[in-house]
Amino acid sequence: MAAKRVYIINGSPRKDYNTAALLHAFAEGAHESNSEVEVTEVNLYDLHFTGCRECYACKLRDGRNYGQCGFKDDITELLQEVAHADVVAFGSPIYFSEITAQLRGFLERLWYPFVQFKRGETQIISPKRVRTAFLIPMNLTEMAMRRSGYDALLSPVLQWTEYVFGYEPQVQFCFDTLQYRDYDRYWADTWNVEGKKRRHEKQFPIDLQQARQLGRKMVEES
Ligand SMILES: Cc1cc2nc3c(=O)[nH]c(=O)nc-3n(C[C@H](O)[C@H](O)[C@H](O)COP(=O)(O)O)c2cc1C
Repeated sequence: MAAKRVYIINGSPRKDYNTAALLHAFAEGAHESNSEVEVTEVNLYDLHFTGCRECYACKLRDGRNYGQCGFKDDITELLQEVAHADVVAFGSPIYFSEITAQLRGFLERLWYPFVQFKRGETQIISPKRVRTAFLIPMNLTEMAMRRSGYDALLSPVLQWTEYVFGYEPQVQFCFDTLQYRDYDRYWADTWNVEGKKRRHEKQFPIDLQQARQLGRKMVEES
């Protein structure tokens, strides 16, 4: 049987902090599954691309790019690969209550070609159902995050992903993250820094373990 294809999409600019660590744990879990896997890790901030440019090549009657992103840049091929994957884990820190602009731009390009507007035909034309996960670290505590309404702000991203790829995304939040390794170097004293350090020691390894189990489970279920 062909190896299962897993894509790990890092929507954080940092390659060695919370988002990246959660994604690595997810990838490790995928490798631990009983299946043969091929894992591709991508850092979106290394690539030159924008969100949807409204070229509408993906909607052109008899167009050669109908149903696929026709705009050529660093992600054109990657979008096709991701749409043919078995499992995709997207990671993004919260920036101003939402996912990062980079991941949002990537998702616009990923979703839109697969939504068609032909009367009498199915609206979704993605090539296959794909299991997805979103790993989302943030500065806020869980209570503050719920109070701040992030669930409602994030729900369109999750709903569009489910609509296009056919499975409800798995979501793992990671709260009250350590933003800096050395807090002494930065102004950050409105935060409970000692509390954050304690949480990082106690809770973050549990978060990583959870991401690892998720990666394993999602590959096994795919
Ligand atoms: C531009 C910017 C905006 C941010 N906005 C929020 C926010 O609205 N809510 C929040 O909880 N954390 C916010 N954060 C904190 C990050 O989500 C948090 O530090 C996260 O752990 C960063 O991810 P990383 O460790 O993978 O780099 C923001 C950070 C930056 C740089």
